Amino acid sequence: MTEILRIESLTAGYRGAAAIEEIGFSAKAGSVVALLGANGAGKSTLLKCIAGLMPTFSGRIWFEGRDVTGRSAIELVRAGIAYVPEGREIVTTLSVNENLTLGGLHVPKAVLEQRRELVLRLFPELVERLSSPSWQLSGGQQQMLAIGRALMAGPKVLLLDEPSLGLAPLLVQRVFNQLGELQRQFNLTVVLVEQNYRLTMRVADTAYFMRSGRIVGHHSAEELRTPEGYGKIISAYFGAAASAA
Ligand SMILES: Nc1ncnc2c1ncn2[C@@H]1O[C@H](COP(=O)(O)OP(=O)(O)OP(=O)(O)O)[C@@H](O)[C@H]1O
Ligand SMILES: [Mg+2]
Repeated sequence: MTEILRIESLTAGYRGAAAIEEIGFSAKAGSVVALLGANGAGKSTLLKCIAGLMPTFSGRIWFEGRDVTGRSAIELVRAGIAYVPEGREIVTTLSVNENLTLGGLHVPKAVLEQRRELVLRLFPELVERLSSPSWQLSGGQQQMLAIGRALMAGPKVLLLDEPSLGLAPLLVQRVFNQLGELQRQFNLTVVLVEQNYRLTMRVADTAYFMRSGRIVGHHSAEELRTPEGYGKIISAYFGAAASAA
């Protein structure tokens, strides 16, 4: 597998104060890389930096071997990096279909239609809701729409911030199953931020652990999937309380 994304010594934050420091990680094409950490660890900040939504203080971001540090969010979407923010942020007054169209605004019409079909095959729940305003969707359907909208841009890398947030366990399972399917079918690379550790371990190839704005360790899926490995790793990074989650 070739490396598609590499983050080197990335430091960034808000109003001059660092929220993430000296972050380094890489993702191979077609893999799922999880970023795990407690509230405030800096996970969303890191994704926003990779998506070009906030400036970085220092460090570099490489995508497909090119230095893309400092590129705008629009340039990065066009290059193949799509971002699904925490809390979904879909335009709720627009219909499901209008939201999908927005996601592929820069894409030629014929391609747009193909992608729309693909997204609807992946999330058939959305088909009968196409003309409904998005606020009428359930939480799970909104999450599917947010992911679907990001896929309309035809990304190579999907940055997903807490897709399980606010969803019932069964829905979380469905969204994760769909993710696995996506990754297999399209060789999509997924950078997944989650607090649902157990579910994340099932889909991730590698997990990086974040604490207080820094990466404090990383482990492969094999290490994480055995119950002993999982228990040891989680309590090492987050303490005994997290291992019960
Ligand atoms: N818009 C902002 N302005 C100022 N500080 C911020 C802003 N957003 C986040 N921070 C700070 O940056 C740090 C990292 O926050 P971040 O949102 O990246 O954490 P997180 O790991 O995504 O947490 P959570 O799991 O709660 O979503 C925190 O200390 C937070 O208070
Ligand atoms: Mg966050």
